[in-house]
Amino acid sequence: MKKIIITGGAGFIGSHVVRRFVRNYPEYTIINLDKLTYAGNLANLVDIENAPNYKFVKGDIVDLGFIRQLFADEQPDAIIHLAAESHVDRSITNPLEFVMTNVVGTVNLLNAARETWKGQYDQKRFYHVSTDEVYGTLGEDGMFTETTGYDPHSPYSASKASSDHFVRAYHDTYGMDTVISNCSNNYGSFHFPEKLIPLAINNIKNKKPVPVYGKGENIRDWLWVEDHARAIDVIFHKAATGTTYNIGGHNEWKNIDLIRTLCVIMDKKLGRAEGESAELITFVTDRAGHDLRYAIDATKLKNDLGWVPSITFEEGLEKTVDWYLANEKWLDDVTSGHYQQYYTEQYHTR
Ligand code: NAD
Ligand code: TYD
Repeated sequence: MKKIIITGGAGFIGSHVVRRFVRNYPEYTIINLDKLTYAGNLANLVDIENAPNYKFVKGDIVDLGFIRQLFADEQPDAIIHLAAESHVDRSITNPLEFVMTNVVGTVNLLNAARETWKGQYDQKRFYHVSTDEVYGTLGEDGMFTETTGYDPHSPYSASKASSDHFVRAYHDTYGMDTVISNCSNNYGSFHFPEKLIPLAINNIKNKKPVPVYGKGENIRDWLWVEDHARAIDVIFHKAATGTTYNIGGHNEWKNIDLIRTLCVIMDKKLGRAEGESAELITFVTDRAGHDLRYAIDATKLKNDLGWVPSITFEEGLEKTVDWYLANEKWLDDVTSGHYQQYYTEQYHTR
């Protein structure tokens, strides 16, 4: 019997984590705490929204009074913290919002947990979900390990790095049971179409230009989102207190090669002539401070806890394209903002 608050559960990765925990652990109560920003979408969870062990709470982690009250009312046993502003380009336009949610919001949760769990730190767990972007950028060689020094370059990665430091500080200073994981780029279903893969799928589908930053030479290490959710499950249940795990699929792709591969898959799926979708590729001005290469060494996770990715990138990409093509309404709704209406209809009178 456990009560777990999962923050950011209406977002991309959070919805997969919520679904996995609700389905796999009927004896747990899962509370999804989410502000429902533009990136939060309850339509991501329609299949489990009526499950008896699931509850949604709308709220802002920046609001300390609200967070304290929620902890006092619910007396959770653990928190899995995913709520964040997550898009690098938005962080370049509006860094302060990233400081508020990612740094202040995390410290608010740590403070509420610290107060509520006093005297029971050994029985409660604070799991912080972070990113490989805190490590900065790699040259042609090498990989990020858990001991790589932090060297963030974007306001997004700087805010995530700061939140990681606070989580470790609460372990070292107050003895709270904290765990952190740093994952590489995720892809899969329910991914908001401002990020590279769903944006490209959506644009290819609609025959719109596919914007590639700079020369498309930047490299990202892609992991299927359901493998990330499974890694979080394993780490949450098995990791020793105060530990950090890197999560990644040993799957590096240059952006331009990835987009070309997507174009080939989509030509086939959409019955287009070979090469038709690739004509949509458009090189645009590079992102400021654009990190060249990310690559995760996930050996520690494999050796300690036995986690390895379950599918290849080719399988995952194909599944992902199929999902977006089969879920046209989801894609149209999130691009038009109709899902906000869903929330009002679904929860307004509750
Ligand atoms: P997302 O942007 O899809 O979802 C974020 C969720 O947090 C949304 O549901 C949003 O409504 C909610 N949220 C935002 N601000 C909030 C606030 N102030 N209070 C309460 N809820 C709020 O993000 P994602 O891609 O699912 O990422 C989830 C986490 O995983 C983030 O912490 C991110 O840093 C981390 N991460 C993401 C990736 C990736 O490739 N997407 C990789 C590694 C780590
Ligand atoms: P993104 O999905 O935003 O993830 P992140 O910046 O967190 O890695 O971008 C992935 C890569 O794709 C990154 O190198 C930037 C690049 N990119 C484009 O080339 N075009 C785009 O339209 C977007 C959104 C990203």
